[in-house]
Amino acid sequence: MSDNLTSIQKKAFTELQAASTESDVYLIKSRYLGRKGALTQIIKNLKNLTADQRAATGKSINDLKNLLEQEINNTLQHLHDVQKQKKISQQDLDVSLPGRKLPLGSKHPITTVTEKILRIFTSLGFEVIEGPEIELDFFNFEALNIPKNHPARDMHDTFYLSDELLLRTHTSPVQIRTMQQHSPPLRIICPGKVYRCDSDISHTPMFHQVEGLMVDGDVSFGDLKGLLGLFVHRIFGEDTAIRFRPSFFPFTEPSAEVDIQCVMCKGEGCRVCSGTGWLEILGCGMVNPAVFRNVGYDPENVNGFAFGLGIERIAMLKFGINDIRLFFENDYRFLSQF
Ligand code: FA5
Ligand code: MG
Repeated sequence: MSDNLTSIQKKAFTELQAASTESDVYLIKSRYLGRKGALTQIIKNLKNLTADQRAATGKSINDLKNLLEQEINNTLQHLHDVQKQKKISQQDLDVSLPGRKLPLGSKHPITTVTEKILRIFTSLGFEVIEGPEIELDFFNFEALNIPKNHPARDMHDTFYLSDELLLRTHTSPVQIRTMQQHSPPLRIICPGKVYRCDSDISHTPMFHQVEGLMVDGDVSFGDLKGLLGLFVHRIFGEDTAIRFRPSFFPFTEPSAEVDIQCVMCKGEGCRVCSGTGWLEILGCGMVNPAVFRNVGYDPENVNGFAFGLGIERIAMLKFGINDIRLFFENDYRFLSQF
C-alpha cells in the first residue's frame, strides 16, 4: 500500500511540475483528488482492510492528500504570477514618454495686458490700489473739479443709478479715495472696469482703465514725460515714437494726451488712425490744485501728476486688433489666438 502511495505522489508531482496552464492543474487535481481520482479510489478501498491497517494507512493517505492539495495551490499561485509578469512585460510601458497634454485655456488678452502694465509700474515703486465700480457722484466728478452741470460731464456719457450713485466713468475717483485716506508722498496705480453709454468699433459700454498718480513735494511735468515715455517703450518697443498733445481735463492743469505712432501703418496714415499717423492712448497732466484742496492736501507744499489709460486701446495696438468689441464677444476662435 505505501509503495502505491509513493508512486502516486511521484507521478502527481511530476505532472504538476510539467503543468503550464491553470487548467492543466485543475485536470491533475481531478485525476487524483476528484470523485474518481486515484487517491479517492484508495480511500474507498480502506473498508476492505482490518481496523489496525486502516488506522495506519488512513493517516498516510491523509498526509498525502494534504501534501497534494498544498502542492496544487502552490502551482496555481506560481502559474498565476508567471502569467501576470508576462502581461506586464507585454504592455511595454515606457515611463520616460511625455504625458498626454490636456487642452488648457489661456489668459484673456485684456488680463495679459493689464498684468504687463501693472508689472512695469510696480517695478518703478507704484502700489496697486483698487476702488468700487459703483461710485458716488462726489468721487467720480465733484472732488475731481467737475461740479454738477459742468459741461465736462458731457464727455462721460454716464450711467446713473440715482442722483448720487453712478457706474464710475473712469478710474480717477480712486485717486480721491486714496488721497483722502493717506498723506503724501503717494505713488499708486489703479486698474479696473469703467462704464460709459457709448458703443462703436473703438468704444464699448464697459472697458478697462489704469489710473496712475504720483504726489510728492517736487514733481515736474518732465518726470511725467519721462515715466510715460519709458512705459510706452517697454510696452511697444524702444523705436515707438510718442508725442504729447495739449488737452483739457478739469482735474489736471496743464493737461495733455499722449499719442503713439500708429502701429498699423507706422505713421503713414491709415483707416485705424484716421489718416493722421497717430493714435491716442492716454490722458494725463499735473494734478489741479483744486483737487488737492478737495482732499485736504496743501497745494503750496505738494504737487504731482496723474494719468489714465484705456487698456483695450493698448491691447488693440499691441495685438493688431481693429474692433474693440471682439474682446467681449468671447468667440473661442478669437480668444484661442492668445
Ligand atoms: C479719462 O477718462 C481721464 N480720467 C484720464 C485722465 C486721468 C486724465 C488722469 C488726466 C489725469 P478719457 O475720457 O480720455 O480720459 O479716457 C481715457 C482713455 O480711455 C482714452 O484714451 C481711451 O484709451 C479710453 N477710452 C475712453 N472711452 C472709451 C470707450 N468707450 N471704450 C474703450 N476705451 C475708451
Ligand atoms: Mg480722450
